[in-house]
Amino acid sequence: MGRLLSSEPQNEDESFVSIRPLTLNEYIGQKNVKSRLDVAIRAAKMRGEVLDHVLLAGPPGLGKTTLATIIDHETGGRLHTTSGPVIERQGDLAAVLTSLSTGDILFIDEIHRLPHAVEEVLYSAMEDFKLDILVGKGPGARTVRLSVSPFTLVGATTRSGLLTPPLRNRFGMVLELDFYDVKDLSEIVKRTANILGVEISEKCATEIAKRSRGTPRVANRLLKRIRDFATVKSKNEITLETLEEAFDSMKIDIFGLDEMDRKILSKIAHDYRGGPVGLNSLAATVSLESETVSEVYEPYLLQGGFVARTARGRIITIKGYAAIGESLVSAKNFKYKE
Ligand code: ADE
Repeated sequence: MGRLLSSEPQNEDESFVSIRPLTLNEYIGQKNVKSRLDVAIRAAKMRGEVLDHVLLAGPPGLGKTTLATIIDHETGGRLHTTSGPVIERQGDLAAVLTSLSTGDILFIDEIHRLPHAVEEVLYSAMEDFKLDILVGKGPGARTVRLSVSPFTLVGATTRSGLLTPPLRNRFGMVLELDFYDVKDLSEIVKRTANILGVEISEKCATEIAKRSRGTPRVANRLLKRIRDFATVKSKNEITLETLEEAFDSMKIDIFGLDEMDRKILSKIAHDYRGGPVGLNSLAATVSLESETVSEVYEPYLLQGGFVARTARGRIITIKGYAAIGESLVSAKNFKYKE
């Protein structure tokens, strides 16, 4: 079971756990998602029912795991955490489902990566809290029906479009998370700074927020690295000077783009003369997996207006050229001179 489930939300950064909000009240931003969850949780409690299944969709780092933790905390169930690729066989899912008690929350991260055969078993578990398992092989094979305690499935996916319609349709609520605006990110930075015990002004919090790619995980990560710079100067305060030094050292520009973002933009501008270029070719040029480009880097480059997607592939925009310190004309000339 250890391979399939963990009782704590997974996180690459252990200390993140303590800065994670535990209640909807503490959770900043995503107003619509918050209010829909709030009503659903309160209504389920008032009726004495378990909460309907929830699908959380959106780019990485926007708070899907945080919301699963909050749902668990607000409903009072036990949280079981697993992920799509870990559940390889129907038996794996059966083991997980039969370990649940009434009102528990099962969080399946990357739910779009569940194998098809496993997904089919999930349908009846979600709908009727029944589990149809095939036992044996060949002519002697038979289906055994097991009962599962009423539970809430919280699924997370980087794109809801990746989910098969039968699975998607079994969620009572599909909540799409959006990138955060600078104001909300600045609030998150101030909240985290307060928990970490470091002083920060409104202006500095805003400057960090502006470079956080619309993503709380990035904002908190930047804050922690900037705090390191303050610590080594024996200061417990983040100043504009510290900020400048930290951003320079991390090679993060005014748009919040890092070296890899700028490499992607440069490759489109120079190797592909501005585009269009297909995802796979682009990923190969920057030595990344296509999925990493499309799910980690591209959403923000698209949302920020640095690249655009056309029917024939990705193209760099005028803002994209500006971000790599070039104009459209100079970049084209660069190629022609080669
Ligand atoms: N930490 C990470 N995401 C957060 C959010 N949306 N609200 C408050 N703190 C957070």
